[in-house]
Amino acid sequence: MNLAVVGAGYVGLVTAAVFAEMGCRVTVVEINGERVKKLQEGEIPFYEPGLDGLIAKNLQSKNLIFTQNYDKAIPGAEVIFICVGTPTKNGRVDLSFVYEAVKSVARNLKSYAILVIKSTVPPGINSKIEKKMRRFTRAEFDVASVPEFLREGKAVWDTFHPYRVVIGSVKKKVIHKLLQLHRGVPGKRLVCTPASAQLIKYASNAFLPTKISFANSIAVLCDEFGADVEEVMKGVGMDKRIGAEFLGAGLGYGGSCFPKDVAALIHLAKRSKYNFEILKAVEKTNKKQIDYFIGRTVGLCGGEVKGKVLVILGLAFKPDTSDMREARSIYVAERLQNLGAEVRACDPVAIPEAEKLIKGARFFTDPYTALRGADALLLVTEWGEYKTLDFARIKKLMKAPVVVDGRNIYNRKQLVRLGFKYGGVGR
Ligand code: UDX
Repeated sequence: MNLAVVGAGYVGLVTAAVFAEMGCRVTVVEINGERVKKLQEGEIPFYEPGLDGLIAKNLQSKNLIFTQNYDKAIPGAEVIFICVGTPTKNGRVDLSFVYEAVKSVARNLKSYAILVIKSTVPPGINSKIEKKMRRFTRAEFDVASVPEFLREGKAVWDTFHPYRVVIGSVKKKVIHKLLQLHRGVPGKRLVCTPASAQLIKYASNAFLPTKISFANSIAVLCDEFGADVEEVMKGVGMDKRIGAEFLGAGLGYGGSCFPKDVAALIHLAKRSKYNFEILKAVEKTNKKQIDYFIGRTVGLCGGEVKGKVLVILGLAFKPDTSDMREARSIYVAERLQNLGAEVRACDPVAIPEAEKLIKGARFFTDPYTALRGADALLLVTEWGEYKTLDFARIKKLMKAPVVVDGRNIYNRKQLVRLGFKYGGVGR
């Protein structure tokens, strides 16, 4: 099948690479010429495990082509994926990239194609998209919605092994074609209206943060009652109706999706005169986790961090990505600097991105170098390599043996035995 993918961001690149690997001929059109040039040479604009190999392989087999020109991508494509960004400002979704992309597609559409909206868009906008398309093309087309649920850092795996494939269309031939296109991937299938498909995406990206904020609220109570949130949420998650995932307490959620989509759903609800109180509380709780962590840090540092050297381990918003969008490290660093601390920031891959967002800190890739002479180690993002640190060695390097564990990954007993002062979140 011939496919076109509009937008070489996370969603576009992974979608393109995976379908190319499954035997489709995929042309990716991207307006950023610099990015296209690099991609043609196999250079990926961000860190995503497994993606570079997949792209290199399919560039070579010519199943994957990158171009800046819509006229090279659109004519002849049977399915066209719109994978451009939909940023939000105070919850308001900016659809200008989607509409621009749709206009360019329409101008170059010569024969029937299915336009699939993968970008996260407000429910019900497909009719607007159709209208826009008709203004610029005489060719026949259908518009469907197939939302994307991939996680950064696991994007390739998630696209090959989705939990579900949601197909938003009411037309038989469209549904048939899209089911056929996805036959190479496992997972449940759900066929529904485009509006439902779009709302499934928002509801999912709002429900998972709700679980996280709930776990974080329980963590605060655990500290009060002398319980351990890891044990509590393990017990809670054993109930299949609740599920064990996304109950990890700590510094809260960041990234390019959860904060944006929660804000967007609150805003969309407000436009429909519904006050989405649960989600407002989810947002508030997530912000409060930073205060809680800072309070814990100050407490463990003897009530004062002024003039102290504090080392943040993990800057990316989560492990296995270089993405710094809404990373908790930005807020933690800023708060500590405002309290007069000297911040050292450590991450295996996110430093180029982090340097643009965290000012006045010193950056390190090696945690042991960063920890020399430090007054506290603050675990903010749980990269695999931080889980297996040599704490006996660290004890000798640090000025004061303090560990504040923002993701609850360390063994308290072990650290205390080594002579560390340890604090997690809710344990
Ligand atoms: C998320 C969704 O998982 C994905 O389905 C959707 O398509 C895009 O948004 P992503 O943002 O890549 O994916 O990361 P995810 O692994 O979901 O983590 C999001 C944030 O939640 C991270 O900051 C992570 O640290 C935090 N988190 C996750 C917790 O604080 N606790 C948890 O138990 C799980």
